[in-house]
Amino acid sequence: MKGRASLVGAGPGDPELLTLKAARLIGEADVLLVDKLVSPEIIAMAKPECRIVDVGKRCGRHSMQQAAINRLILQHARAGRHVVRLKGGDPFVFGRGGEELETLREAGVPVEVVPGITTALAVGARLQVPLTHRGVSRSLHLLTAHNHADALPEHDWAALARGGTLAVYMGVRTLPLLAERLLGVGMAATTPAVAVQNATLPNEQRLFGTLATIAGLVQAQGGDGPMMVLIGEVVAMAQPLMLGDTAAHAAA
Ligand SMILES: C[S@@+](CC[C@H](N)C(=O)[O-])C[C@H]1O[C@@H](n2cnc3c(N)ncnc32)[C@H](O)[C@@H]1O
Repeated sequence: MKGRASLVGAGPGDPELLTLKAARLIGEADVLLVDKLVSPEIIAMAKPECRIVDVGKRCGRHSMQQAAINRLILQHARAGRHVVRLKGGDPFVFGRGGEELETLREAGVPVEVVPGITTALAVGARLQVPLTHRGVSRSLHLLTAHNHADALPEHDWAALARGGTLAVYMGVRTLPLLAERLLGVGMAATTPAVAVQNATLPNEQRLFGTLATIAGLVQAQGGDGPMMVLIGEVVAMAQPLMLGDTAAHAAA
């Protein structure tokens, strides 16, 4: 039997944010290669005989190198299995799905890609922050604040500071530097900002502040869950507390 691979987005955490297609593929998989950010409830959708491999990666703490993951996907697909590579959020948004895709294409293994809800979109929905809003924000920038050297990567800071909404991935460690850069190119210190840890999960935590205060608030709170930071005028539209919320909240 010919093997194949599916690169599947699992969404930000809440199992209800999984697509129907992702759920079907997880249930059909012979081998499931999963990231740390994928919820146990989602992994439990695999059939009993499915081989589950935790290739658990959290930014900066790689438990398996990307090259080894690529080899593992290939090895199982070449053995005739259906491999589902399950990733937090969307496979093509800071998910290294592109590298896996290239490996599979080069090897001639049939591959399909299933999108997932990326964290920025989930956070916008959770906080009731429209990421673009007529007259307020005309663009959305998804950016990483982490590079391989564990430093702030280069971006066109002036362009980013000119407006629109910024959604910062992997920013826990470099948030102070990022805020400093944006302030340095003239972004208003009062620009609303929010940091959300463990978005859509029962232990979700939100910290509201401004470009000038958000890094200090995050540092004071601590925690080692994944964190998304939204910066922009639209953040002022957030509904910090919602009926039925079980998440912990902190308001600045
Ligand atoms: C390697 S990137 C993966 C992004 C993922 N592919 C996506 O589309 O959301 C990991 C980063 O995504 C963000 N992230 C993922 N899940 C999150 C969550 N539940 N809450 C907050 N941030 C999250 C954090 O910024 C984290 O450092």
